This record gives sequence, C-alpha cells and structure tokens, in this order.
Amino acid sequence: MRDGQHQRVKRAAASVAPRLRQRPCVGLVLGSGLGEFADDLAELVRIPYAEIPDMPRPLVIGHAGNLCSGIVSGVPVVCLQGRSHLYEGHSQESVVFGARLLAELGCTVVLLSNAAGGIHVSFEAGDLMLLTDHLNLMGDNPLRGPNYADGPRFPDLGQAYDLELLAFAREAARASGVTLREGVYAAMLGPSYETPAEIRMLRTLGADAVGMSTVPEVIALRQMAVRVGAISCITNLAAGLSSQPLNHADVEATARRSRNAFGRVLSRWVALAGTVGA
Ligand code: HPA
Repeated sequence: MRDGQHQRVKRAAASVAPRLRQRPCVGLVLGSGLGEFADDLAELVRIPYAEIPDMPRPLVIGHAGNLCSGIVSGVPVVCLQGRSHLYEGHSQESVVFGARLLAELGCTVVLLSNAAGGIHVSFEAGDLMLLTDHLNLMGDNPLRGPNYADGPRFPDLGQAYDLELLAFAREAARASGVTLREGVYAAMLGPSYETPAEIRMLRTLGADAVGMSTVPEVIALRQMAVRVGAISCITNLAAGLSSQPLNHADVEATARRSRNAFGRVLSRWVALAGTVGA
C-alpha cells in the first residue's frame, strides 16, 4: 500500500460529503476554548468524529470532537471543533488527518486558531495574534514518511501564511474594532509548559508566541496547496513573564473570554476568504 494515508482521508471524505448540505470552500480549525464558534453556524450539520472513519478523537478538555458544516457570512464552511495533538500520543498522520480531510472535502482555504502563550513584551492575555510565520520546534514533521497524494516532496514554506489572507485578517479586525497583533508562532511538543529559560531561548529565536499545535496542520495543508491563515488567542503570558503558574483551565477560560472578539474577526475573515476560496 503506497499511500495508505491518502486512501484513508479519501474514505473519510466519502463518508462525510453526502451528509453536508453544501460543498465547503473555507475550512476552519477551532482551537482550545474557541470551538463554540461552530455552534452558531447557519444550517448547522454536526458530525461527531466517532462517526468518521479513521478520524482521531481529541482527548483534551475544551476540544469537542465534531465536524460541523454550515454557512458563515454567506460562505459555506466546514469546521473542526477540536483537534488532536502530538503530545496526546497521536501519530503525525492522525494530527493532520482532520486538516487533510478539510482539503479533501473541497476547501481551498483553511483558517486555523489556537491558544498560545505570549512571548512578545507588548502582548497581554486576551490578545489575538495573526501568525505571519512559524518555528517548527516539535522535533518532527508531518510529511515524514511516504509522500502524500503525489504532492511535492519538499514543499516551499517561504510564505506559508497566505499574504492575501493576512491582509483580509487585518481588514476583518479593523472592521470588528478588535486589535490584532502579529507575530511568529513557535510550536513545541508539550504537554508540559515551557521553562522560563526556554521562553528566553524562544524569544531570542524570534518567537512572539508559543503553543503546541497548528504547525503540523499548516505544513500538511501547504503540501496540498491549500491557502492558510491562522490566529492565536494569547491566553497567558509565557513562563517566567508573570508570577502566575500556568494551567490548562486558565488557558481555556481566557480563550473563552476572547471568544466574542475572536468570533467577530473570524466571521468577517471568512467572508473575505470566501471570495478567494470558491
Ligand atoms: N505554552 C505552550 N502552549 C500554550 C501556552 C503556553 O504558554 N498557552 C496556551 N498554549
């Protein structure tokens, strides 16, 4: 079996597609505490991951585990309400399975979100940060192994985050009255949070925020020529930058507090992204 991964994604898409009311053009990946966006979709169809062949189940609190399709601002979307992470013990294939499924269902644009720790001195908890680039410090790459679907073996990541989608995100934030920070996201394996020394290292390396997701999906999507944009909700100041010990409950609670601003920006971002994703 030369490309079993592609066969599995195609089989999952074949089981999901007939249940959707419309073919999606924009895919959304909703991170920790941000999944509620999908509950408000017009014409909502919710498919539990358990009903999708080979779809991994997220085990982390705050990740619901549904594929939701519907309409946002007139644009047909499909959302992953919850994702799987490498630190849960999932394989790279599992971690990017949902993102590849969005592409296989017809999405030519995918917008991702996550919760992240703020490293840049001017960031505060509750801020939203548009990813302009990333550092893959997870120690692995989702493209390791057999080449997926005859895509490029060595995909270019010179502009992983699509310039037009970056411009649309800025416009969406401006129209929503929300301040949108920008910066470089460093992906760590986790699940332990970083040490203060690691955060100093990441800052020296050029990171503005740190998290444990998103980068594998972005790499897999770029290999499939999907246009990608991503926003982090800065849920906390990274280790050593505040006196507060870090914990997941606070991370989730802060993401939830940002969900109104996040939802307003995301709805407008989808509307603009829909003009290129069709
Ligand atoms: N570090 C890593 N991942 C995170 C953090 C953090 O501080 N906050 C939310 N996800």
